[in-house]
Amino acid sequence: MQCGRATVMTKKIPLGVLASGSGSNLQSLIDHIEAGRLDAEIRVVLCNNADAYALERCRKHRIPARVVDHRAFASRELFDRRMIEILNDCGVTLVIMAGFMRILSPEFFRAFPLRIMNIHPALLPSFPGTHVQQKALDYGVRFSGCTVHFADEGVDSGPIIIQAVVPVFDEDTAESLAERILKEEHRIYPQAVQYYAEERIEIAGRRVRIRNGCAATEKALHNPPLTFY
Ligand code: GRF
Repeated sequence: MQCGRATVMTKKIPLGVLASGSGSNLQSLIDHIEAGRLDAEIRVVLCNNADAYALERCRKHRIPARVVDHRAFASRELFDRRMIEILNDCGVTLVIMAGFMRILSPEFFRAFPLRIMNIHPALLPSFPGTHVQQKALDYGVRFSGCTVHFADEGVDSGPIIIQAVVPVFDEDTAESLAERILKEEHRIYPQAVQYYAEERIEIAGRRVRIRNGCAATEKALHNPPLTFY
């Protein structure tokens, strides 16, 4: 195996995707699968919101999707139990949170230990939670980005798999920064799933190592650029 893609045939990982909204990360996974770059099969997409555009994307690509409306359940645990049941029935081994706007219960994490990935539009552990592009601007950071990590019971707190860094510009608004970050989300999420499919992810405590991975460039990034050399 080289530092790029595995040369051996990798089996297709059965995915279950949880989405609540637009589903552009779901679309990126679909596109990578259809282009033969991602050895995965989306067994089911679960939406807690019947109006989610993610459902339209599923219709277009003939991907099985189910609406599980959290408001129809008496508790978070019962809602989660229903999702676990469906994911297990569909033979899902890796759960992908793609803009899923519900907090999962401990029971859900026990059902899929270190088998749930999430994407977050900031460089964790900075700016966990919501409205993070505005928080990054308000703080005045010069770089932001996105993080794919294993989800655990904390908020955006599990072991980090890949991060992408983007610059923050003086004229940025939360929307322009979010758009720049989202483009990178669409690149790193399929890559993280592909590493998983190739069984190249090793987890030691908080640290994730990609077996046979390329080293990151040693070059530092500066924003604004340095002018004296
Ligand atoms: C993304 O920014 C993701 O990082 C966050 O929610 C947003 C979902 O976007 N968790 P989409 O639904 O994938 O377009």
